[in-house]
Amino acid sequence: MQVIHQISELKKTIKETKEKGLSIGFVPTMGFLHEGHLFLMRTARKENDLLVISIFVNPLQFGEGEDLEEYPRDLTKDRELAYEVGCDLVFAPPVQEMYPPRYATFVDVERLTGNLCGVTRPGHFRGVTTVVTKLFNLVQPDRAYFGQKDAQQALVLKKMVNDLNMNLELIVLPTVREEDGLAMSSRNSYLSPQNRREAAILYRSLQQAQEMVAGGERDASVIKETITMTIKNNTSALIDYIEITDTRNIKPLAILEGECLIALAVKFGETRLIDNLLVEV
Ligand code: PAJ
Repeated sequence: MQVIHQISELKKTIKETKEKGLSIGFVPTMGFLHEGHLFLMRTARKENDLLVISIFVNPLQFGEGEDLEEYPRDLTKDRELAYEVGCDLVFAPPVQEMYPPRYATFVDVERLTGNLCGVTRPGHFRGVTTVVTKLFNLVQPDRAYFGQKDAQQALVLKKMVNDLNMNLELIVLPTVREEDGLAMSSRNSYLSPQNRREAAILYRSLQQAQEMVAGGERDASVIKETITMTIKNNTSALIDYIEITDTRNIKPLAILEGECLIALAVKFGETRLIDNLLVEV
C-alpha cells in the first residue's frame, strides 16, 4: 500500500494506473476511520481494480468556531485499517498542497445547499464540493463511494457530478450503525458516556417516524413534532433541525409524497450529530 502526501507523486501513480487500463474506486474521508468508512472501502475494493482513499481534514468545510482544530486525527491507525481492507493507495496531503497561498477557485452547488445543514453551517457545502472536485480531478476515479449518513452531502455531490458532467459513477451506501442504532461518526468520540447513551434515541426517533409513515401519517408537522418530543423527553440535546424534505431539491415538505428524507441535527454540548432515514410514500 502506497501512502502519498504530494500531488505530483499522486499524479504520476494515477497516470500509470490509467495507462494500464485499471479501474479506480475512490473513498474520500477526513480520517479517524471507523466501520462506516471501512464499509465504503470494502465495497469499493470489491468493485474496482484499485482502491484509493484520501485522508484530509478539509479546512474549507469548517466554519468559524467549528471543530477544525479538535477534529480527531490518527494517521498511523488509519494506515493500518486501510491496509487491512486491501487499500492500494492512501492520499494524505498537507493543507498547503491542496490550498497553496492565493488559492482562488471554488465550486458551489446552489439551491440544494440552502436547507438543513446549509443553514447552520454556511459555506460548509462549498468547502465539500470544492475539495471533492479537486480530489476527483486528481484521482480520476471510475467510481466514488459516499455514505447515506451524510444524506445532504451525497445529494449535493450527485447534483454536482451531473451538472458538471464529471466522468464517474457516484455510489451512495447505507449508514453503518453501532449496536444501539447510533450512526457511526468520527465525532462520536467527543461524547461523554451519558451523552453517548442518550444519543441512541436519535435513530429510535427516526424509526418511530418511519413507523408513523408506514401507518399512513402524511402530515410532516405531526411527524416532526413526534421526533422533537421523543428527543426532548429522553435527552439533554439541543435540536438544530428536524426536517422532512424531498430528495431532488431538498425542499421542506408539508405533506409527504414520493421519496422523502427525514433528517435531523442535534447538539450534545458542543458535539453536533446528524442522522436521517429515507422513506418512500
Ligand atoms: P467523513 O466524515 O470522514 O466521511 C467520509 C465518508 O464516509 C462520507 O461519504 C460519509 O458519508 C461516510 N460515512 C461516515 N459515517 C458513515 C456511516 N456511519 N455509515 C456509512 N458511511 C459513513 O464526509 C466527509 O468525511 C467529508 O465531507 C468529505 C466527503 C471527505 C470531503 O471532505
